Amino acid sequence: MDAETEKRVAAEAAALLVEDGMRVGLGTGSTVAHLLPALAARGLGIRCVATSVQTEEAARALGLEVDDAATVDRLDIAIDGADQIAPDWWLVKGGGAAHTREKVVAATTDRFVVIADSSKVVERLRAPVPLELMEYGLSSTLRRLHDVELRDVPRSPDGGVIADYTGAIGGPEALDAWLGSVPGVVAHGLFAPSMVSEVIIGRDESAERLARLI
Ligand code: 5RP
Repeated sequence: MDAETEKRVAAEAAALLVEDGMRVGLGTGSTVAHLLPALAARGLGIRCVATSVQTEEAARALGLEVDDAATVDRLDIAIDGADQIAPDWWLVKGGGAAHTREKVVAATTDRFVVIADSSKVVERLRAPVPLELMEYGLSSTLRRLHDVELRDVPRSPDGGVIADYTGAIGGPEALDAWLGSVPGVVAHGLFAPSMVSEVIIGRDESAERLARLI
């Protein structure tokens, strides 16, 4: 089955989790692009926060209400895609360079739902792990990260430099802690299982709830 169908099936299943009156976090990417029309079609009275300019513009064009994230202290549900999903629900995100905002939204919400096509389910996480870096001290940060490549994309909307960590992942807990401790790293794309409430995978024409192993 083609990936677009699987993304749509997962996104439509997630849209059904949203209820009238909820505050909803919207992720970024081609899977979330299927979520937005499915959500708009439900005609619910909801208020949203978007993780990228692209999502914000698409959501508004569909008639969804989007608030300034600076004014929202809590969300009921957030729905977002992922680049890699391990059996224990460690994620790699940030293929679309929105991982800093996506991590803030994942931390803001009571329920973080991940949607993806079946190709995103992996046995173990692999590099690259997306990074957002401060411009200030960039050469020093790159030297200390060592295994890193700058990505040829525009700055993030928050002014960050987008790069990818290309070294070994090994245990994601240790890499999560190390990347998080490097001065100059604004955020990285490893998301811990504790952030994730559920994972919905499109497999052929069905939406499958992925059980968390370990
Ligand atoms: C953007 C992300 C996306 O959720 C991730 O890259 C998956 O994208 P897609 O749904 O296009 O496969 O983390 O920063």
